[in-house]
Amino acid sequence: MTTYITTPIYYVNAQPHLGHAYTTIVADTYSRFRRLCGEKVRFQTGTDEHGDKIVKAAENDHVPPQDYVDKISALFRQTWPLLQVEPDHFIRTTDAEHVAVVQRILQKVYDSGDIYFDEYTGLYCQGCERYLTGKELVDGNCPDHQKPPEEIAEQNYFFRMSRYQQQLLDHIHTHPEFITPERYRNEVLSFLSEPLEDLCISRPKSRLTWGIELPFDDKFVTYVWFDALINYLTGVGYPDGPQFAEYWPVAEHVIAKDILKPHAIYWPTMLLAMGAPLYQKLHVHGYWNIDDTKMSKSIGNVVRPKELVQEYGVDTVRYFLLREMSFGLDSSFSSEAIVARQNADLANDLGNLFSRATAMVRKYRQGKVPAPAQFTEADRELVAGAENMLRDYRQLMAEFLFHRGLQAVWEFVGMANRYIVTNEPWALARDPQNAPRLDTVLYNILECLRLLTLVLQPVMPGAAGRMATSLGLAEDDERICSLDQGGQWNMLPPGTELQAIDNLFPRLDDGGKGAEKDAAAQRKKEKKEPPAVAGATLLPYEHFQLLDLRVAEIVAVEPIKKSTRLLKLTVRAPEERTIVAGIAEHYTADKLIGKQVLIVANLQPVKIMGVSSQGMVLAARTEENGQERLVLSAVSSPVVPGSKVA
Ligand code: MSP
Repeated sequence: MTTYITTPIYYVNAQPHLGHAYTTIVADTYSRFRRLCGEKVRFQTGTDEHGDKIVKAAENDHVPPQDYVDKISALFRQTWPLLQVEPDHFIRTTDAEHVAVVQRILQKVYDSGDIYFDEYTGLYCQGCERYLTGKELVDGNCPDHQKPPEEIAEQNYFFRMSRYQQQLLDHIHTHPEFITPERYRNEVLSFLSEPLEDLCISRPKSRLTWGIELPFDDKFVTYVWFDALINYLTGVGYPDGPQFAEYWPVAEHVIAKDILKPHAIYWPTMLLAMGAPLYQKLHVHGYWNIDDTKMSKSIGNVVRPKELVQEYGVDTVRYFLLREMSFGLDSSFSSEAIVARQNADLANDLGNLFSRATAMVRKYRQGKVPAPAQFTEADRELVAGAENMLRDYRQLMAEFLFHRGLQAVWEFVGMANRYIVTNEPWALARDPQNAPRLDTVLYNILECLRLLTLVLQPVMPGAAGRMATSLGLAEDDERICSLDQGGQWNMLPPGTELQAIDNLFPRLDDGGKGAEKDAAAQRKKEKKEPPAVAGATLLPYEHFQLLDLRVAEIVAVEPIKKSTRLLKLTVRAPEERTIVAGIAEHYTADKLIGKQVLIVANLQPVKIMGVSSQGMVLAARTEENGQERLVLSAVSSPVVPGSKVA
């Protein structure tokens, strides 16, 4: 199997920012994921260097266009290694081979009668570099650039786009995966429900010279979109390069919603006209805003990838962007959000799991991977959890649902952390008779770490490399680089020596800044919007999402010595865990067994009266006749233990 994945080629009138970084990290992660699946991959990005906008930017910079595009294109090229983005090819529309391919295609489409000369009067938006239809305007303005378009009348060449409208519609109807997520497919279908106009594909040299000359009329240059889209073909050697046949039929493009129309309408109709197969998939994502505001130079809130990496490190930046944005929807970037993810998901959940586990192996087994003995039910559950995670991860990443793929991985991180708590290696270590059990538990925890290293390779290649080193594996070892070779249990060779590494994800201290800012923002918000419950603090939805609330079934109850208030509950959610609850004065064991209650499932374990409690049971606290009463939470009818509460 092969994969060809592309990003848009970015205009060189602006320096790389968070939006460019996101799309390119998505494409890089996907290409690494496909490689992890054993596929041959080609990943292409590059720069779009012709057109009015670029000429204006060069004029502002007081340099000739060629010098200007060389400078900014280099800035893009230099940014990608900082983000551990590794394209196989970086294309520029000023490359001689690209110019030749564009001219070849223009001639072909002209010869077949799909390009004609005509006079046109239209509404032209400089920002979009295209004519807008009256319908697209909002209050007379271009919706993206908030300016009225100029009325322009000129003679130009036109591409008979309308001729391919029905063929495109048929293709979209018969290939539901052609444009995803579905909202964008629907947007395109709605656009295609009206007759398409033909596309103006030239600019007279009297107005613009910085472009690719039309091969059949030297008084015109090519419209920048007709030139730019063809980069996807040039990059794989159109029409007869050896890679063209291999990669073009499996092409997948990643873009944001701003350039949906050129990619979903102009491009497929151009391909139909030139007789080339259509690309396979178009993946469309939403926009990053900054603190809920549009990112813009004039507001001065543009986020630069280089600065982000300097501040948070490349692994955190990549993880955050992929985890935080639901692919297809807009998302808001803030330093509080990135620090919160670093501290909760990376430092706390994953980082602690790693350091705890490897420290125990060093302490109890001289830093060598032990050989496992017989598996118990708890071990089999862990293995089943890993298999579920691998299955979900594979499917979700393939569907560009990176945020959900990572959620599945983090559920498994939680499971591994709970496995440590329930199996108490430190208690096993006290009695040499438990040595085989301790070996098994430690081995299984290390297998969790190895599988996590494997699935996190595409997302955080740097951190995964350090995780591999700590497990004593080479960075290119198949057991952490191939889902097929490494995606099973029992792959870590006993006897392997762990290596000491620095803390994987140190906690970020925001010096209380985050809390202060949160509180200030909260106060501001509360003025506008009073809390629903007097005295309660309003939580951002993201904070609520951090809670893992589940339905748990109580299967055993034991008193806790020397305590009149506490009970030790064994619950299933769905795996068994112990929770200490202060309900002894309100419930007897017989009233509790079989009861389904709501629990917080992802609290850090705490020791209460010598018992490790892995979660918290939710109950209502009321007062009756001056006496406190606790009433346990419940679901209105029985559900599968472990069901999520949301
Ligand atoms: N040159 C054209 C694309 C031609 S492709 C044949 C172009 N360039 S661009 O520099 O404006 O890049 C647009 C792309 O940058 C978006 O589609 C998206 O991939 C990325 N982003 C720019 N701003 C963004 C956000 N604020 N949020 C997310 N991605 C954004 O259009």
